[in-house]
Amino acid sequence: MGTPELDSDGTARIPETLPTYSDWPEVRSSVPRDEAVESRVAALLATMSVAEKVGQITQPEIRSITPDEVRAFHIGSVLNGGGAWPGDDKHASLQGWLDLADAFWEASVHGNAAARIPVLWGSDAVHGHANTYGATVFPHNIGLGAAREPELVRRISAATARQIRATGQDWAFAPTVAVPQNYRWGRNYEGFSEDASIVLAYGYEAVRGLQGDSLPDPVGSSVLACAKHYIGDGATDGGVDQGVATVSEDVLRNVHGQGYISALAAGVQTVMASFNSWNGPDAPEGKVHGSYRLLTGILKEAMGFDGLVVSDWNGVGQVEGCADDRAAQAINAGIDMVMVPEDWRSFIANTLKQVESGEIPMSRLDDAVTRILRVKIRSGVMDAPKPSRRPFAGDVSALVHTHLAREAVRKSLVLLKNRVNVLPLAPSARVLVVGKSADSVQNQTGGWTLTWQGNENSNADFPASSTVLTGLRDALGDSSVVFDETGESANPADFDAVIAVLGEIPYAEGFGGDLGDHSLDASLLYPEDLAVLDRVSGLGAPVITVYISGRPLWVNSEINRSDAFVAAWLPGTEGAGIVDLLVQGDNRHDFTGRLPNSWPRSPWQFELNAGHAGYDPLFPLGYGLSLHDSIDVALLDEAAPPRPHDTLSPARVTDTSPFRNLA
Ligand code: BGC
Ligand code: BGC
Repeated sequence: MGTPELDSDGTARIPETLPTYSDWPEVRSSVPRDEAVESRVAALLATMSVAEKVGQITQPEIRSITPDEVRAFHIGSVLNGGGAWPGDDKHASLQGWLDLADAFWEASVHGNAAARIPVLWGSDAVHGHANTYGATVFPHNIGLGAAREPELVRRISAATARQIRATGQDWAFAPTVAVPQNYRWGRNYEGFSEDASIVLAYGYEAVRGLQGDSLPDPVGSSVLACAKHYIGDGATDGGVDQGVATVSEDVLRNVHGQGYISALAAGVQTVMASFNSWNGPDAPEGKVHGSYRLLTGILKEAMGFDGLVVSDWNGVGQVEGCADDRAAQAINAGIDMVMVPEDWRSFIANTLKQVESGEIPMSRLDDAVTRILRVKIRSGVMDAPKPSRRPFAGDVSALVHTHLAREAVRKSLVLLKNRVNVLPLAPSARVLVVGKSADSVQNQTGGWTLTWQGNENSNADFPASSTVLTGLRDALGDSSVVFDETGESANPADFDAVIAVLGEIPYAEGFGGDLGDHSLDASLLYPEDLAVLDRVSGLGAPVITVYISGRPLWVNSEINRSDAFVAAWLPGTEGAGIVDLLVQGDNRHDFTGRLPNSWPRSPWQFELNAGHAGYDPLFPLGYGLSLHDSIDVALLDEAAPPRPHDTLSPARVTDTSPFRNLA
């Protein structure tokens, strides 16, 4: 059970109606149990000391551990967090990455007394291998959701695997199969859609793309995938990050569980536990990291997952009775590998004591190590040569996927308005380009790009990239494109059209993304954008707005000042893909993207999901125009209605939120 319906070419189809399960299904994984692998694991395990076993379940961060320490402590895995690079060099070369990967690898294979157990290196390749200088950055998941093309997701994921191979890692912390239900959540864009059917089909194909179709892979040309964050991260009350999901078990399974069911069917070998709690009416479980029922009872026993469960960044520390470096309850609940970025030394010491005292039973430790070794054998890591000798290692062309990314950008754009067919522009058009995001790769790429929050980058950090501005210059010629960021200098009447590129600035979890008490009113969140539109609209030239954002916002005022309006999400490094649809080229492309998330009619519609009671969006899930559609959008109401009572809920905005000044 669990395998999605496939098209004749073998690609998962987005189902018209979601499968509903009355209980957690036993999923048939495409990577079956193999007795030869099992006996090899058992033989290895028998040679390991307790210290080697505890090292195996420990995952420090590369900024906090050296290869020598990997050897001395028999470390099983390392990760690089967002903004962690070899030598702390954002522009680290392929060779720099490979040298470090080789060093960790050498240390690990010589670190275990009897057994040779290579370390696994994991990285957040959530929209391409985006933490790496020189790598093509694909649209964030929300944009892919608009494309409604599972096969595209497989190709992007396969390209991402090659990017990761180029720099010598083994494991992508992707795909995110969250089903975000609340726009307050700053991680909304990491999910494909509010619609679990899309998540189901995409989760399946993302895993196939990353891991390939044939594990075990002794050559190691694919990478491990990780379905995250299990489970209910998109379901929290008030959209609070790391908050509490108060949903029934039925909703947890049939909405938020769909991506896990399909990822497991595709053979995903790792699952990351989520920071959130589940306090459903049926079961007040508390933090997922400490829930035996969710991790062991449901995921491993009922659904039959035999890979490894990794905890999230210090996630164990949020479990009652645990600390960042004391994880008995979490391990006993079913965490197999502990992401303990900094405090790994004391974690190892504490865990050794807890095993000795029996607080963590030896059988549980053995099971965790068994799962890790199984995954290392299946993925090929156990038998592969050192990272620099594996397929695609050091291969620059494996990092760059310009055509694919540009195709993905085109397919992700959703045309919301196109008054009297302003679009497409003729190749002879003279345009005025305005807006803070017209020439900003970092606004296009968003969070989880080179740095954690993605907001400390400049265009020079992206060697192979294009913005809407550079794309327009290529398409129309330099002399036909004038850039005036704030719209204060040029006179729109001198041009055939104004192109305004506006929207959100980068954010990732926790910090800027969570809206807290703010509404979805873009004119309050980003007043500079409306100011630009006020300067250029109504002066004779049609205004075409390209809106870059990680979620739909309430943009009635911005739409009113625009003749055409394009939702571009977070497109990544190929801004030229947007221009492909704005300008009529030889290769005539049309808008095919359809809303992956419902567009709000009011700034208070944080929770706006198709099929829910009272659903009343401005543009529904699935909406999107084509160039030949001549549907006009009437003037929209610009007066924000008062805040309804039921949107008041606990919210959290941290000091570094870009919205903090509005509080
Ligand atoms: C995030 C994960 C990520 C991990 C490692 C966590 O804070 O929630 O999505 O994989 O950090 O960077
Ligand atoms: C890391 C991220 C991680 C975050 C969690 C950051 O320092 O770079 O990868 O998710 O911390 O707090």
